[in-house]
Amino acid sequence: MEKCWQIENSAVPKEHALTDTTNSNNDRQAVPVCVHANGKGESSVPVSARKPTLRRLILFLALAGASAGHALADTAPPSEAPPNTMEARVQACIGCHGAQGRGVDNVYFPRLAGKPATYLYNQLVAFRDGRRKYVPMNYLIAYLPDAYLADMAAYFAAQNPPPLVVPATAAAPALLQDGQRIATVGVPAKGVPACVACHGDSLSGREPGIPGLLGLRADYVSAQLGAWRYGIRTAVAPDCMQIVAGKLSEHDVAAVSNWIASLPVTPQLRPLPASAGAPRLPLACGSQTVHPH
Ligand code: HEC
Ligand code: HEC
Repeated sequence: MEKCWQIENSAVPKEHALTDTTNSNNDRQAVPVCVHANGKGESSVPVSARKPTLRRLILFLALAGASAGHALADTAPPSEAPPNTMEARVQACIGCHGAQGRGVDNVYFPRLAGKPATYLYNQLVAFRDGRRKYVPMNYLIAYLPDAYLADMAAYFAAQNPPPLVVPATAAAPALLQDGQRIATVGVPAKGVPACVACHGDSLSGREPGIPGLLGLRADYVSAQLGAWRYGIRTAVAPDCMQIVAGKLSEHDVAAVSNWIASLPVTPQLRPLPASAGAPRLPLACGSQTVHPH
């Protein structure tokens, strides 16, 4: 039994974007969200254009997580109930995040694969508890316990599918140059540290709580920086990204977002280890102190 819904990306918090970056031609792109109640089947091609029924997705998650999976058996014999595996649990996620969390064409739907597990866990807790807002995700995980969120985070952190092929950036060279300077040197006059000081020299992230930035599209990065600036996204205190984003101008955000999006993705790059010898962060980040259960 396959069920799919088309979710219009008009629900995506585009209004949080500080700037109109160059890739904004994705308005009202419909996203197929599918669940496979028997755990078989591959495709996320929509079979119907029904309105999103998030309650059903939530129900699916709850059932996939509980041993009472056979409660779905009103249309399938008990032997075809969803297995209680991680693949079954994350079926509700991959319509928006791609198989193995690889990412999808929609520029606002981030790749999850290979990001540090604690980072992903922190985000799931933030969505569940309302510190980060995107209504479908807020609802989907509203009632899931910490341990369940930690398991899903660990699953996506361990994936390493090939990156999406995305169109080359159309941003002007001068804008990209500014972006590169902000990311690698910072803006000393405004007290903005270089992004690489925390996200790593090649922006591959740093365990346990700092994500890699490669493979994120300009509109997504811009929207996140805007969300921090306006207090719509907050991380565990002290929230270093709120300080960083708060000091950036609109031009800075457009420049650094486009430069990040112009970088090639190297799937072999993993987040830097959180080893004792790692350089000190220029600001304290609460995200680096969380220990998932
Ligand atoms: C309807 C589409 C949709 C579904 C279904 C969905 N997500 Fe998301 N997810 C998003 C969007 C859009 C964002 C970015 C929201 C924002 O702008 O802050 C996001 C963000 C995230 C993030 C933060 C990523 C980052 O790099 O900061 C994580 C982790 C995540 N989702 C995990 C999941 C998991 C696990 C599931 C399944 C239980 C799921 N998502 C289901 C659309 C979806
Ligand atoms: C002091 C350390 C620090 C600096 C400097 C820093 N970051 Fe971050 N960044 C973090 C942490 C920690 C997180 C994870 C926050 C959380 O848990 O949500 C993060 C997350 C992000 C995210 C969210 C990624 C996603 O997948 O949603 C973006 C985008 C980002 N940073 C961009 C930047 C940019 C651009 C700069 C430079 C202008 C920068 N950061 C500088 C520590 C830093």
